[in-house]
Amino acid sequence: MGGLSDMEELGERRRESIPRGIFNMTPLIISEAKGARVKDIAGREYIDFAGGIGALNVGHSPTAVVEAIRDQAERYLHTCFHLMMYEPYIALAETLNRIVPGDFPKKTLLANSGAEAVENGVKIARYFTKKPGIIAFDGGYHGRTLLALSLTGKVRPYKAGFGPFGSEVYRIPYAYCYRCPLGMAYPSCDLQCADYLRGVFRLHAPPQEIAALVVEPVLGEGGVVVPPRGYLEKLKGICSEEEIVFIADEVQTGIGRTGKMFACQHQGIEPDILIMGKSLAGGLPLSAVTGRGEIMDAPHVGGLGGTLSGNPVACRAALEVIAMIEGGALASRALEIGEKVADGLRKFEEEYPIIGDIRWLGAMIGLELVRDRRTKEPATRETRQVVKSCYERGLLITRSGAFSNVVRALMPLVITDEEIGEGLSILKTALRETQI
Ligand SMILES: Cc1ncc(COP(=O)(O)O)c(C=O)c1O
Repeated sequence: MGGLSDMEELGERRRESIPRGIFNMTPLIISEAKGARVKDIAGREYIDFAGGIGALNVGHSPTAVVEAIRDQAERYLHTCFHLMMYEPYIALAETLNRIVPGDFPKKTLLANSGAEAVENGVKIARYFTKKPGIIAFDGGYHGRTLLALSLTGKVRPYKAGFGPFGSEVYRIPYAYCYRCPLGMAYPSCDLQCADYLRGVFRLHAPPQEIAALVVEPVLGEGGVVVPPRGYLEKLKGICSEEEIVFIADEVQTGIGRTGKMFACQHQGIEPDILIMGKSLAGGLPLSAVTGRGEIMDAPHVGGLGGTLSGNPVACRAALEVIAMIEGGALASRALEIGEKVADGLRKFEEEYPIIGDIRWLGAMIGLELVRDRRTKEPATRETRQVVKSCYERGLLITRSGAFSNVVRALMPLVITDEEIGEGLSILKTALRETQI
C-alpha cells in the first residue's frame, strides 16, 4: 500500500463498511508511528499532538512495551481470568494498589475500556453504600456505554438521540472559571460551585440516597478545564462528611499526563476509587478501578468481571508503561512540555485576539478560541478550521469543550523540543489563517 490513490480507495472502503457515526477527525490512514511522529500510507509525516486522545503518554510503540507484548503473546494470549488466573493481572493489581494515592489498603479490578471502568466503579459504590444516586458534572465525559453516557454532560455529539439514560444521576456545574457558571471570580467566590453539591441534597436527593460522586480532576472532553486549588478538596470533604464514595475519573489525566502519576495528587486528594484507562497499557485496551479494599470487596463473588477483562498481553504492557513513567523522567517532562507550550501560546495570544484562554496542567493543554474576547462568544467553526489546517500542514491535534471551541493537545510525553517547536509553528500558521 502507498500513495494518495490508496488513501482514497481505503477511505471509500471505510465509508462502505463502517458506520458514519464513528467520527474521524482526519482522513489520515496510518502506515507507521514511533515516539511522537506518524507516517501515513502516502508517505507524509506528521507531528502528533493528539497522542491517540491521551492514550499514548509513553509514545507510539516504545521498545520495552513492544518487547513485553511480544514475549507475552508467545506464552499465552488469553485464558479468561475467571477460568485460569495469571501472574500479570495480579502483578498489575499490586502495582496499581501501590501507586494510586491513599495510605490505606486497596484492591484493583481490571476492565477493557474507560467507560467499562466507570460503570464498574459506580456498580461497586452502589453495592457498598446500598444507595442509588450518582453526582456528575456539566461538561464531564465518562464514555459511551449507557451508564457512562448518562454521567456524560455534553449533548452533541454524545447524547443526542441515544436516550433514555440511566436514572438517579444528578448534575452540578464544574469549576470552569473562564465561564464561571455562577458568574463569580476566583478566589473571592470561595468555591461556591463546590457548595452546589449541598444544593442537590436540598433540591433533588438527600445524601442518604447518593452513592458516589464521579469527577475528572481536569475536564478533558469538557475543554481542558483545570479547577482552582481547593475545589476537589472541598468536594471530597463534603463526600466524606456525607458518606458518599469519591470517584476520580483519571482515564485522561492519569499515568503521568499532568506531571504526576495522577492529577488528583496536585491537590493532595486521596480518592476512595480511582479509575484509569487510555495510556495505562500504552494503547492496548485496558482499564482499571482501584479503590479502598473494603469498598472494592463489597460485591459478592461472581458480581464483577468479564471475559476479556485484564487481558494478559495488556497487563504486561501496562507494567512496562508504569515502569517507564516511574523510572524515567516522563512525569517531570510533562510539566516541562506544559510550560514550553504555554509559553509559546502566550506569545500567540498577543497577536491573535481569537485566543480567549490558555489552560494547562502538565502536558494536558487547551487553547479556548473565541470570536470576541469581551463576550467570549465561542469560535466553534474557527476551531474546526484550525484543527483541519494543522492537519493539512502536518500536525495532528484535537478539539474539545462544551462548545467544541478548545484546541486540545495531549502529545506523547517522549516528544522532543524540536517536535514541539515544529508543532507550535504549524499551529501559529493555522491561527493566523483563521483570524476573524
Ligand atoms: C475522563 C474520561 N473518562 C472515560 C472515558 C471513556 O474511555 P473509553 O473511550 O476508553 O471508553 C474517557 C474517554 O475519553 C475520558 O476522557
